[in-house]
Parts: sequence; structure tokens; C-alpha cells
Amino acid sequence: MADDHRRARIGRRRARRGRHVVALLAMLALVGGAYALLVPRPSVARAQDPSLVREGEALYDTSCITCHGTNLQGIPDRAPSIVGAGQAAVYFQVSTGRMPLAEQGAQAQRKAPRFTPSQIDALGAFVQAHGGGPQTPDVSDDALVGSDVSRGGELFRNNCAQCHNYTGRGGALSEGKYAPPLDPATPRQVYAAMLSGPANMPVFSDGTLSPDEKRDVIAYIDTMRYDGANSPGGLRIGGFGPVDEGFVAFAVGLAVLVALSLWVGSRR
Ligand code: HEC
Ligand code: HEC
Repeated sequence: MADDHRRARIGRRRARRGRHVVALLAMLALVGGAYALLVPRPSVARAQDPSLVREGEALYDTSCITCHGTNLQGIPDRAPSIVGAGQAAVYFQVSTGRMPLAEQGAQAQRKAPRFTPSQIDALGAFVQAHGGGPQTPDVSDDALVGSDVSRGGELFRNNCAQCHNYTGRGGALSEGKYAPPLDPATPRQVYAAMLSGPANMPVFSDGTLSPDEKRDVIAYIDTMRYDGANSPGGLRIGGFGPVDEGFVAFAVGLAVLVALSLWVGSRR
């Protein structure tokens, strides 16, 4: 009799637990589904999509053809050939607003992009379909940020600092050219800059800097960012790097401790 009761109780408990597990699984599936829907599709997988290429061609014909020519072959004294420049070069130039170029002669300026992300994808697919070329990896922006910041720092000092300065603030080059500050560049823009080597900047092919090394360089650049909104390490305090930030924290902390002990002493 008591045994039956216990068995029934255990049975009910099992059923309840079973329902909880089912509810939990359903919730996980829902969250997973929502995630898959919300996360933007990476651009590269779509690069071969013929309708995307056609959309890119239409954009090219209205916004780029006057300088880069009917077959992307370039026009003397106007713009270089972009046959084989690849999706990476287009992504860099168009997402940073450099292209379409505003004024001839001057170094291309970073400005608000003229095109939406999906239009930039389309332009990239169109140029990629003419001679191939480097492409940014088919992963989320977060996956472009490596984990070894100290290796990234060493690579940055050896490969980038001579132009962009040790703190990524940029600097003047010869003939009125300059290396811009790196703060506004997103991880994918930094990756695309390395792959395509805009203007005077050298190309860092995967043979020169492996994809892993590129990601570490990006992780290092992320630690130096000047804009508070995009500063995972906290306030930048002039952007001189984590050492000064630590020192300021130390100094402020010390001042607070001294003030606290004075206050405690005065109450005695
Ligand atoms: C007013 C003329 C002009 C227009 C319009 C223009 N470009 Fe350019 N483009 C240039 C010049 C000049 C350069 C070289 C400047 C430089 O490298 O800094 C260039 C460079 C580029 C590069 C880099 C090539 C490389 O080898 O890295 C790409 C990619 C590019 N343009 C794509 C485009 C696209 C896409 C459009 C249309 C959305 C466009 N451009 C519109 C003049 C123009
Ligand atoms: C020889 C000098 C030189 C070196 C070395 C160099 N760059 Fe550049 N970099 C430039 C110039 C010049 C530009 C501007 C190109 C333009 O405006 O068309 C630039 C632009 C950039 C931009 C675009 C910033 C923006 O406005 O969005 C990024 C990002 C960048 N470089 C990253 C790097 C990284 C990372 C390295 C090292 C792996 C590096 N650069 C090495 C000269 C250099």
C-alpha cells in the first residue's frame, strides 16, 4: 500500500520533470531559432549569387563606371583597374565611405558610407566575379577578433606602427599623404585593409600575416580604441593604453583610501 503510494508519487514527479525538460528544450530551440534569424548572414557565402552580382552591376553602372570604366579596367588619370581587387577591397573602400571618390587628386577620405550593407555586399560580389581577389572571411565580426593581444601588439609594432604610430593614432607620410587613425575602423574593415592594402599601405596577404595573426592584430587595435562607445577595456583616458588606465585607477583608488582613512580618523 505505502509502496504503491510511493511509486505513484515518484511517477508523478518523473512526469513533472519530463515536462520541465520538454519545456526547457522547446525554449532552447526557440532561442536558437531566433538567434539564427537575427544574426546577419555573412557576405562571402553569397558572393557567387547571380542575382546579387546583377544588383552589384547596376550599382556599379550608376556610381563607379565613370571612373573605373566599363570593364573595371580603369581609366588613365581617373582611377586604377579594379579587376581582381576582390570583395575585400570593395568592402574596405565602400564601407569606409572612401568610394565613390568625392574629389580627384586628394587621398580618399573616410566619410559616411553612401551604400547600405547589402548594397556593399552586392558591389563586392560584382567585383569578385571579375577576376576574383581577396575576400574577407565568412564569419561574424566577433570571430575576426583574436585572443592573443600581446602577440597582436608585437605584430602591430613590427608591421603597422611605422605608419599608423604606436598607438594607432596615424601620422603623416611623404607627398602630403597620411596614414589615418585606426579608431573608427571595425574589425572587418581592419581585416579588409590588411587584405587589400589601400593607397600607400602594403598588402598583408595570408602568406605575410596568417589569418590568426591578422585576428590578433585586430584584438590589439581593439584595446587602443579611442571612442568610449567602442571601448571594451573601459575608459581610454587619452588613449595612451592600458598602462595609464591602470595607473589612473591606482591613483584614484589611493586617493579614495586616504580620504576614507581621514574620515574614519575624524569620527574617532
Ligand atoms: C571620381 C572617381 C571615382 C569613383 C566615382 C569611384 N572610384 Fe574607386 N577609385 C578611384 C581612385 C582615384 C582610386 C585610387 C585611390 C586610392 O587608391 O586611394 C580608386 C580606388 C578604388 C579601389 C581600390 C583599388 C585597389 O586596388 O585597392 C576600389 C576597390 C574602388 N575604387 C572601388 C570603387 C567602387 C566600388 C566605386 C563605386 C561605388 C568607385 N570605386 C567609385 C576613383 C573613383
Ligand atoms: C607604409 C605605411 C602603412 C603601413 C605599414 C600600414 N598602413 Fe594601414 N594605411 C596606410 C595608409 C596610407 C592608409 C590610408 C589608405 C587610404 O585612405 O586609401 C591606411 C589605412 C588603414 C586603415 C583604414 C583606417 C580607416 O580610416 O578606416 C586600416 C584599418 C589600416 N590601415 C590598418 C593597418 C594595419 C593593421 C597595418 C599593419 C598590419 C597597417 N595598416 C600597415 C598606410 C600604412
